[in-house]
Amino acid sequence: MLSRHLATALLAVATLARCAPAETLPATATPPPTPSTTTRPVRPDPARGEALFRAFVPAARYACVTCHLPNSTQALLGPGLAGVGDGVSPCDPQQDLEDYLRESILEPDACLTPGFSARLMPSVYAEVYSEQDIDDLVAWMLTLRQTNEAGQ
Ligand code: HEC
Repeated sequence: MLSRHLATALLAVATLARCAPAETLPATATPPPTPSTTTRPVRPDPARGEALFRAFVPAARYACVTCHLPNSTQALLGPGLAGVGDGVSPCDPQQDLEDYLRESILEPDACLTPGFSARLMPSVYAEVYSEQDIDDLVAWMLTLRQTNEAGQ
């Protein structure tokens, strides 16, 4: 009897473990955030930026989170983003960080992260996102500090 319970428990754990990396797959289950209809200037909304980061983008065929872990420096297809919020551009340490993050989305190949190849990150976002979307994504990435690195 005890061993049957143990087996059930182990099966449950195995199932959970198999489900865990679902976050890193295209986030088809997450409903895309409502597109912004307002015109600028609107205050950047980091929470909305995070929702965009986790949403599947058909034109890119991925969600950002499929390639980037937000709270880890561990790489998936792209670099882990823990610390981008208190980092510097690898090409020009003098560049304003907000500008660099904006450029990383709109022109991914303008400055490559060392160790990563060109043309891996989709260059569709200038067409896909509104100015507000980009502002929100950048505002959220600025909250990704080295100090809050926490795995996933
Ligand atoms: C198909 C995988 C992929 C997707 C999807 C993707 N990226 Fe990237 N990203 C990369 C790769 C690879 C790099 C490194 C090469 C480069 O700089 O282009 C990168 C670089 C970056 C960098 C620079 C990081 C640093 O440390 O300098 C940022 C910021 C970034 N991506 C944000 C985003 C955001 C925001 C999205 C969604 C809108 C996104 N990425 C979607 C693959 C991806």
